[in-house]
Amino acid sequence: MVEKCRVRGLTKRFGTTTVVDDVALDVSEGEFVVILGPSGCGKTTTLRMIAGLAEPDAGSIDIDGRRVCAPAERLFVPPEQRNIGMVFQSYAIWPHMTVFENVAYPLRVRRVGGGERKRRVADVLERVGLGQESDRPATALSGGQMQRVALARALVFNPAMVLFDEPLSNLDLKLRERLRVELKSLQRETGLTSIYVTHDQTEAVELADRIIVMKAGRVVQTGTPRELYRTPTSRFVAEFISTANIFDAVVEGFAGPGFVRVRCDDGRALIAAHTVPVRPGERVDVVVHPEDCRIEATQGEHAHQVRITGLRYQGTSTRITLRWMGTEIDVVSLGTLPAIEEGSEAWLHIRPEHARVIPRPVP
Ligand SMILES: Nc1ncnc2c1ncn2[C@@H]1O[C@H](COP(=O)(O)OP(=O)(O)OP(=O)(O)O)[C@@H](O)[C@H]1O
Ligand SMILES: [Mg+2]
Repeated sequence: MVEKCRVRGLTKRFGTTTVVDDVALDVSEGEFVVILGPSGCGKTTTLRMIAGLAEPDAGSIDIDGRRVCAPAERLFVPPEQRNIGMVFQSYAIWPHMTVFENVAYPLRVRRVGGGERKRRVADVLERVGLGQESDRPATALSGGQMQRVALARALVFNPAMVLFDEPLSNLDLKLRERLRVELKSLQRETGLTSIYVTHDQTEAVELADRIIVMKAGRVVQTGTPRELYRTPTSRFVAEFISTANIFDAVVEGFAGPGFVRVRCDDGRALIAAHTVPVRPGERVDVVVHPEDCRIEATQGEHAHQVRITGLRYQGTSTRITLRWMGTEIDVVSLGTLPAIEEGSEAWLHIRPEHARVIPRPVP
């Protein structure tokens, strides 16, 4: 895999607050990497430093094997020499220019001649679905069209990489979903290397080859959407990436290789899988995904008696809420359900490999 971007020890302070703290990340050629994290965790600041729009206090950034920034070496390559395209949340389209002029601008700056410029702008406008809009004033465009113009402008000079900072968050839900699908297929077709910042986990999971989860300026976990979903290493990631049931529990004892018996304060006990060592008596979090639970009318191994408190049919699946001792649990059932109704008793089956132990951070 060809490395496009390598960041090490990236740190940024504003006054006495460290807002980006020792961040490392790698992006391979053609990869779509999403930086995901709550508001204020340092996503935009990280992206701005990679683009050259902000200067780090420490660390290094390499793009295409060339060092573009390293405060310790007093090295800072300005943004226009980093060959990076950017798409922002606010479209940053010039209102006094036409669609064509907006998209042609980066080529003008790079002194690409008239004929070549026309050809490349026409080509990229076609790719983002704006082939017919070339001569319209930018102000006459809808939000979705403006964001397509911004994307075309970021792509037109064949950048090494494109950075996206929440580009879809100003658009309504339907449009956001459509542009997300379009962006992903465009990225696949063109093999565009991308770093995409968002605080929206649905967007992250749908777009990303790999997700970098940030919290308070630090990277807390990196992995494919599936890895983060299946093996979160912290409660924070589990909560951020999914709508899982998370139980606060104590390890009671071992239950075969890779498994422990855990008990919650309200008395619920179950067998759960662990991938990192835990000790009896240790407090842990246990993650159970709604779609990994099964509701049965009869008891069986690893079954717990529950009461159904809610049923919502959603086309091909049913969302069930139930009460297991003192706790509400969410279950999603695909396909047919046993004949259960609200208020009835049932059995909740959780296979041990579907309950995953997350150790607590050492304070
Ligand atoms: N120029 C600045 N001066 C002082 N503090 C700043 C500056 N820019 C950002 N910050 C602070 O740095 C922290 C990280 O900001 P940043 O914009 O990187 O967060 P973010 O993860 O992009 O958040 P959001 O999801 O809300 O866009 C915040 O606490 C913010 O207030
Ligand atoms: Mg931001």
